[in-house]
Amino acid sequence: MAMVGEEKAGGSRSKVLVIGATGRFGQELVKASLAAGHPTYALVREPTFSRADASLLLRSFSASGVTLLKGSLQDFPSLLEALKQVDVVICAVPSSQVLEQKLLIRAIKQAGCIERFIPSEFGADPDKVQTVEMDHDFYKKKAEIRRCIEKEGIPHTYISCNFFQRYLLPSLIQPGLKTPPTDKVKIFGSGNVKAVFVKESDVATFTICAIDDTRTLNKVLYLRPSGNAYSQNELTEIWEVKMGKKLEKIHVTEEQLLKSIHGS
Ligand SMILES: NC(=O)c1ccc[n+]([C@@H]2O[C@H](COP(=O)([O-])OP(=O)(O)OC[C@H]3O[C@@H](n4cnc5c(N)ncnc54)[C@H](OP(=O)(O)O)[C@@H]3O)[C@@H](O)[C@H]2O)c1
Repeated sequence: MAMVGEEKAGGSRSKVLVIGATGRFGQELVKASLAAGHPTYALVREPTFSRADASLLLRSFSASGVTLLKGSLQDFPSLLEALKQVDVVICAVPSSQVLEQKLLIRAIKQAGCIERFIPSEFGADPDKVQTVEMDHDFYKKKAEIRRCIEKEGIPHTYISCNFFQRYLLPSLIQPGLKTPPTDKVKIFGSGNVKAVFVKESDVATFTICAIDDTRTLNKVLYLRPSGNAYSQNELTEIWEVKMGKKLEKIHVTEEQLLKSIHGS
């Protein structure tokens, strides 16, 4: 039985294909896969090779040993060709594009060689999250992709990690700000509800650890390190101690928050 970080039978490491490797989170997946010694492949769209911001990154991938494959989620033959070279597929396309994974699922089924598929999720559990119809159906679409994977009997792991640290945390959860406030802070509700904030590189490392671990097969992997769970009141207090200054608290009720979101 293969456990965390173990090699496959025959001493080789799983070959990992990352789709969305030039994206913010995809880059972390590529780094984590290389760091764990997996032969790593990236499916890259043709125009992206000549994009100024991406070409430097792609050159650094190549120099690190990543095999770059031309293709896209809309191009079935390119998907099939890429899949035939690997054991594991990790997709990191943005939430707005998750339904584009349907063709990939068909290709995985047809290729018949994929031992683990990690679809693009990396957030709250779409089967559990409750939203008030303000998420552009992101979670509904992610749940739809789960059902397609399960219907096709594709071996999978879903990664549920809550918030990436780069979201909300740098502003102390103040929408519109990029840095923490220094005079006033809005506290939403009681301010006591905890959220989990995880570093993208840690999510990527755990994802790579999960791919060959039989305990994560066909399961949701929840990343909830207790040291990463903080309420807004706790975060505010940490920041106040760091600044040596108290902030003026503006309390915002749930109704007020929903109204302002709808308004914007
Ligand atoms: N938990 C959180 O707080 C949180 C926050 C943000 C994102 N996420 C999750 O992280 C994941 C990735 O998001 P991200 O923000 O890192 O994405 P991103 O930076 O927008 O990157 C998207 C990647 O997908 C590629 N791509 C787009 N369409 C494609 C297609 N048709 N075929 C092949 N590749 C395609 C892009 O390639 P090009 O370079 O060719 O455009 C790019 O590499 C998603 O699952 C998202 O839900 C979680």
